[in-house]
Amino acid sequence: MAFPPAFIDELVARNPIEDVVGQYVNLKRSGGNMFGLCPFHGEKTASFSVAPDKGIYYCFGCHKGGGVINFQMEMEGLSYPDAVRALAKRCGMTVPEDEQYQSRYRQQERLWALHKEAARFFHSQLYAPVGKAALEYALGRGMPKSTLTTFGIGYAPDSWDSMVKAMRAKGYTDQELIDSGLVTKSQKSGNLFDRFRDRLMFPIIDVRGNVIGFGGRIMKNDKEAAKYLNSPETMIFNKRKNLFALNLAKKSKLGYLILVEGYMDAIALHQYGFDCAVASLGTALTEDGATLLSKYTDQVVLIYDGDTAGQNATKRAIPILEKAGLHVKVLQMRDAKDPDEFLKKFGADKFKVLLEESSNRVEYQLNAIRKKYDLHQDDQKVKFLHECADLISTLSSPVQREVYGGRVAEAAKISPDAMKLEISRAWKRRQYQQKKKQEAMDLAPAKALQPKSRTIRYDNVKSAMAEECVIAQVLREPALLDQTKALQAEAFSSELLGRVYGQLQLRHQQGMDVSVAVLTDLSSEEMSHITAIIQRQQETVSEKALADCVGTILAEHQASSVSSEDDLLALQNKLRERKGLGV
Ligand code: GTP
Ligand code: MN
Repeated sequence: MAFPPAFIDELVARNPIEDVVGQYVNLKRSGGNMFGLCPFHGEKTASFSVAPDKGIYYCFGCHKGGGVINFQMEMEGLSYPDAVRALAKRCGMTVPEDEQYQSRYRQQERLWALHKEAARFFHSQLYAPVGKAALEYALGRGMPKSTLTTFGIGYAPDSWDSMVKAMRAKGYTDQELIDSGLVTKSQKSGNLFDRFRDRLMFPIIDVRGNVIGFGGRIMKNDKEAAKYLNSPETMIFNKRKNLFALNLAKKSKLGYLILVEGYMDAIALHQYGFDCAVASLGTALTEDGATLLSKYTDQVVLIYDGDTAGQNATKRAIPILEKAGLHVKVLQMRDAKDPDEFLKKFGADKFKVLLEESSNRVEYQLNAIRKKYDLHQDDQKVKFLHECADLISTLSSPVQREVYGGRVAEAAKISPDAMKLEISRAWKRRQYQQKKKQEAMDLAPAKALQPKSRTIRYDNVKSAMAEECVIAQVLREPALLDQTKALQAEAFSSELLGRVYGQLQLRHQQGMDVSVAVLTDLSSEEMSHITAIIQRQQETVSEKALADCVGTILAEHQASSVSSEDDLLALQNKLRERKGLGV
């Protein structure tokens, strides 16, 4: 990371975390900390905390955490250097730019500009003579000119190099054209060709308003060619991290977001007044997509196609959305294959009825269970009740359990009391299983202390616990680094904790600030892990306890190096034996 440490120090000092977070979150002070609603996952009670004295934020709900730079990265979806630039701008500092970053950023800016030009070009072609058929196709599919303008829809002419020529004329280099993914280079001739030819073009625009890619639809029925062709992943386009039409939907006043499968569905919904619709980009919904949604709403209505593929996609999407803290409703498509077709057949009012009927996650899942069984057969009825009871018993609200239990009882024609009993049995069953699981965990405490992420797993839990303690204490009180001089980063068993300790020690020796915020080269996962450690270890430990931790780390380190020497010795002996040399 090439920003000078002194610059980062000043940047962090001049951007108090409570001020930066305060731009996005309404914070209320409680003791030394401040609390608010987490901007990273939808929630109704405040589990997002900011500790101004430590310069960190941490969410007890979704466990995201870090310093002010990290916050800026997560909040705006920026890279480290871009977050630093944004914060520098905020407090009026000039960034001493590293050549490599500068050139990368310039490259990105060129690609954004190129995409904007490309979108203009496609759009203009729609109204040129070559675009006549495309315009007819678009109008024929029920998109009026206002929609074509709002979404910037265009046409890629049926030519090998019209885009190449148009962009060269605007001063873009061949390399930039290739980097944009809009153009490919022929292996054989070395010539450049347009990627999109004879397609209706949908610009994909990120939440900051940059055109970052395109989806192109073929207009004739052609079994050979893909119906939709999307831009490839580029420096500025990541399919998993963006959603079509979110740039518009984020401004919706409807208070929820609708997630659909197709570009055309999202566009139709906007056109009919549901301006809160977004579509995933030709891939299944990802965790990144769900996180992005949760920045703008806490209520999502899923509307996937009525076919089996759509149902399966719905099933997969529900837990992903819920994990991001979103409340999920599912709209069951009927009498049409997708929202686009439905709206054009029946209009907005009928769609509103569907929307009002759309069920919450529990109702949807109960319906799905209902479809699996024939309730006229007793054995199937028992299985049905069993499965429903399992699901209902997971609900924390007694009212909900009562209501849904009652409905299931009615469907199966049994008494509500019998159903209640079934639910409470299911609940006990799960409690028992959880207790078993907890017992197994208690018996294997090392496993319970492991970080969840595989990439930061601890090889030596005993040492790692002591390492966590040292990190938490020196971050709380940097002067303690004078007392841990005997401890070097190499002695740490955890690569991550060692790396962090090394950075802190070096900064302390150089008389610079020591805080979470100034740590560099950490992934957001690693940053969250470090912040979680600090939050867990709230108490200050005695100097003796700290010395004990240092002792444990050094002892474990020595033991591990001895044991590897032992291993070597043993190996040597074995070899000798084999060669018949004796010991
Ligand atoms: P229309 O047929 O124009 O109404 O489009 P649709 O949006 O209803 O498309 P469909 O339900 O067939 O597909 C949903 C989404 O999946 C599309 O919007 C695309 O993002 C994606 N998709 C569909 N077909 C293809 C394909 O052949 N290739 C790729 N890469 N993506 C596709
Ligand atoms: Mn469709």
